[in-house]
Amino acid sequence: MKPTKSRPRQFLSVTAILLCSLIVLQAMQMIYQTVKESSRKHDTNNCVRSVLGYTFDGVFAQKVAEGEIERVKESTAAVTDRASRLLPNCSDIQLKLEGKNVQVNTSNITNFDLKKELEYLLQAGGLYSPEDCEPPDKTAIIIPYRDRMNNLLTLLRNLVPILVRQRIHFRIFVVEQTSEYPFNRCLLFNVGFVESMKVDNFTCVILHDVDLIPRRYDNLYQCHPQRPRHFVRDRSNKEIRGLPYRGFIGGVLAMRRWQVEKINGCSNMYYGWGKEDDDLYKRLCAVMLKPVRYDNPALGEYIALGHSKQQKNKLRNVMLRGAKIRMAEDGLSSLSYTRVNFLERELYTWLLVRVPPPPPPRRPRARFH
Ligand SMILES: *[C@@H]1O[C@H](CO)[C@@H](O)[C@H](O)[C@H]1NC(C)=O
Ligand SMILES: *[C@@H]1O[C@H](CO)[C@@H](O)[C@H](O)[C@H]1NC(C)=O
Ligand SMILES: *[C@@H]1O[C@H](CO)[C@@H](O)[C@H](O)[C@H]1NC(C)=O
Ligand SMILES: *[C@@H]1O[C@H](CO)[C@@H](O)[C@H](O)[C@H]1NC(C)=O
Repeated sequence: MKPTKSRPRQFLSVTAILLCSLIVLQAMQMIYQTVKESSRKHDTNNCVRSVLGYTFDGVFAQKVAEGEIERVKESTAAVTDRASRLLPNCSDIQLKLEGKNVQVNTSNITNFDLKKELEYLLQAGGLYSPEDCEPPDKTAIIIPYRDRMNNLLTLLRNLVPILVRQRIHFRIFVVEQTSEYPFNRCLLFNVGFVESMKVDNFTCVILHDVDLIPRRYDNLYQCHPQRPRHFVRDRSNKEIRGLPYRGFIGGVLAMRRWQVEKINGCSNMYYGWGKEDDDLYKRLCAVMLKPVRYDNPALGEYIALGHSKQQKNKLRNVMLRGAKIRMAEDGLSSLSYTRVNFLERELYTWLLVRVPPPPPPRRPRARFH
């Protein structure tokens, strides 16, 4: 009978088709994985291999980031638009901060454990907004970053509960530089400033080193109404106590948005360690915005975390001499960078940026005289 004869043949061809589809599917999955793998490789810093692939990745990431920024902006607006709620002013609420030193824990913690510790406090992207009052400012905490994960986690672990207790509205931005050139803290601050304003209209920005942990709950992370505010008076675990020199504004500095704009932001030209904060100080003094500190010196106590030394910037002293002259043309107005990524992570908003190459190593350029 025909049907019985053809049945095994039918069965065979169906099986063959199934097998073929499986193989095709497998192959497609493998291709997908390979592409994903290679794009991930490009995502992490060391990708100087293919200039073409590199550029493509940059453009692609820019586009992805554009969408992400728009999304974050909308979700932030939903969280923080509370005009109708008529909450009391946070400045009128009595904070319980006096006399209690922070129990700083500097032992290493994993990302996983820290997420568990802070998830009740933070919203995605390291956003916090007090529930019971309207804060006078929206604050962007900008942390220039590269390759210091242990420090970053320790900072967040200790800083976030302090800020929450102070009822500060904040979002944490970690601005990471890719690995090609020496670290440029000041340029990363400019990037953090510009990019943060795309997400929300922050009125106060705090430039924060990744390796300094505040020790006091009453060291209020608030912008002064008229002047920048400098916080770090004493790195209490260091041999030399107190300010390292007059006019030191390194470590942690709060500025209002208009103040940053008035000085054209930070200089973009300091690659490597040293003097970029002194340059910033000169800019601020040039427009009569000398920073203030809290009267009580004990508030400025910090713990400095250990880390490997950075490469020093050989041009730093020459550049510092030209600080005021360069101010108008070197800063926000001349800022150039490639945004490689922008992402809301659980504990912070992450920005990965590629910066332009440093100025030539030998002679400073004509613009210095
Ligand atoms: C944390 O870990 C790093 C390396 O993973 C190590 O160098 C450092 O000493 C550790 N710090 C503490 C306080 O354990
Ligand atoms: C500090 O953190 C470590 C691990 O993250 C933990 O085991 C330890 O109990 C903490 N110490 C204090 C005093 O809380
Ligand atoms: C809250 O109080 C502070 C200080 O008194 C004031 O500067 C600020 O404008 C007030 N904010 C609102 C929304 O009323
Ligand atoms: C900032 O405020 C202006 C004017 O109110 C508004 O047009 C703009 O969309 C705001 N920007 C963000 C990022 O919320």
